[in-house]
Amino acid sequence: MKIVVQKGNLADSKSQAIILPLFQDQEKLTKASFLIDQASKGLISELIKHGDFAGKPSEVSVVYTRGAIPAQRIALVGLGMRNEVNLEKIRAAFARVMQQLRNLNIQEAATAIDSDILPGRRDKFVQCVVEGTLLGLYQFTPYKTVGRDDIKDMKFLYIAAEGKETIFLEHEVKKAQIIAGAVYFARDLVSAPSNEMTPSILAQKAKEIARRKKVTCTVLGRTQMKRLGMNALLGVAAGSNEQPQFIILEYGGGKKKEAPIVLVGKGLTFDSGGICIKPAEKMDEMKSDMAGGAAVMGAMMAAADLSLPLNIVGLIPATENLPSGTAYKPGDILKSYSGKTIEVINTDAEGRLILADALFYASRFKPAAIIDVATLTGACIVALGEDVIGMLGNDEPLKKKINQAAQVTGELVWELPLWEHYFELIKSDIADYKNTGGRNAGTITAAAFLSKFVGDFPWVHLDIAGPSWSTKEKPYIPKGASGIAVRLLVEFLRNCTRTKKE
Ligand code: BES
Ligand code: MN
Ligand code: ZN
Repeated sequence: MKIVVQKGNLADSKSQAIILPLFQDQEKLTKASFLIDQASKGLISELIKHGDFAGKPSEVSVVYTRGAIPAQRIALVGLGMRNEVNLEKIRAAFARVMQQLRNLNIQEAATAIDSDILPGRRDKFVQCVVEGTLLGLYQFTPYKTVGRDDIKDMKFLYIAAEGKETIFLEHEVKKAQIIAGAVYFARDLVSAPSNEMTPSILAQKAKEIARRKKVTCTVLGRTQMKRLGMNALLGVAAGSNEQPQFIILEYGGGKKKEAPIVLVGKGLTFDSGGICIKPAEKMDEMKSDMAGGAAVMGAMMAAADLSLPLNIVGLIPATENLPSGTAYKPGDILKSYSGKTIEVINTDAEGRLILADALFYASRFKPAAIIDVATLTGACIVALGEDVIGMLGNDEPLKKKINQAAQVTGELVWELPLWEHYFELIKSDIADYKNTGGRNAGTITAAAFLSKFVGDFPWVHLDIAGPSWSTKEKPYIPKGASGIAVRLLVEFLRNCTRTKKE
């Protein structure tokens, strides 16, 4: 799907469909729709008058123009009440209308960036049009071999632009396409089955990201990890025949000596639970246990493509968690990279083990901030539901920045407390810590455990166990891999550069 800014008037477009977003409480039509209404001799106002289209959020109505204007159809899409419109409603509306046009086997459509919608925030409006369109149309089809010809696909969205605004629109479209492309990249990694998305293949994908300017990728294998003493990560990897990989992506867009932001992503390419094996039901979904790693890789990719003036490091500890004769076992004690010892109570609490070594590795960079993203606990879904990211951390300003970014991207983030008394629950009788804290407050005790390996650096942990995989379709997130946290991280990073300029 290509999004192309095209000079000219929308009313003159010869497209298969013209898309017009409209408000529900429409006294008079918006600027763009008014022009189309005039050109089509009142087609839109007639439709509204007869009650065929009310403009409710994501309501779609497609009509034939029958020669009244050069375009074949007009597709109206509702945005709801004018004073209640927000970025999410625009993304959802564009996702829905594009999906419906695709169902009609339409291959290209045209729209305009109506100045009556979100006046003064046209950059955001463009971004939401592009995000809604691309993210809503995502399909994962490489494994479909039967009936491939029946797969419907939109090829072009044209955005009509008047002379002087063409360059502005092209610029905004390009940025939004980079961000949506990074979400596609993450979704593809998560959608891929674990037999084709092993730690080594994940590392290969990271190396592809590093073909960009100012990006390098280093990958540590089992031998190097042994030499460093990353025994928490190696413990989890012990049951698998796949080589674990410690992926280090570095992007140097900032000044040489400037402290980097370190992003850490859980890269469990398959989590069976290990010796404490999970029930078979839904175990297939555990191919998505590398969604945090995918989000970090997507964000690194977007940061480089957007040429952000920042230094950013992405760390992705990648392995499988499998039971076997060589697997780690409950009761085992692992000496982590930090030197601290961990008693393994449950081999299914593996994410925090691999993150412990990655978080300690992060301190090597003396980072300005550490953000880790992980499908860490089922307890987070119990606490907040499957649409919400759980946030915990040790730094108020950093948490505030994440919340601010989430307000813009529409990803739902909710903070949980990390009070001192929770640390009691992860104390071990014979080692420094144990890797589970019992049934209660599972998301918090997991974060409490992680905090022991971050040192004094500002740190935030994002538990994406719920929203990383959608069991139901959401407006611009088809079923399956969501690519959650990619846009959140990118928005956060972009804001870091904005505050730098001030
Ligand atoms: N990857 C899982 C968490 C998870 C569960 C993610 C469901 C997405 C959906 C994690 O490794 C895990 O198994 N956590 C355990 C921890 C427990 C043993 C303390 C859990 O949540 O049950
Ligand atoms: Mn697990
Ligand atoms: Zn896991």
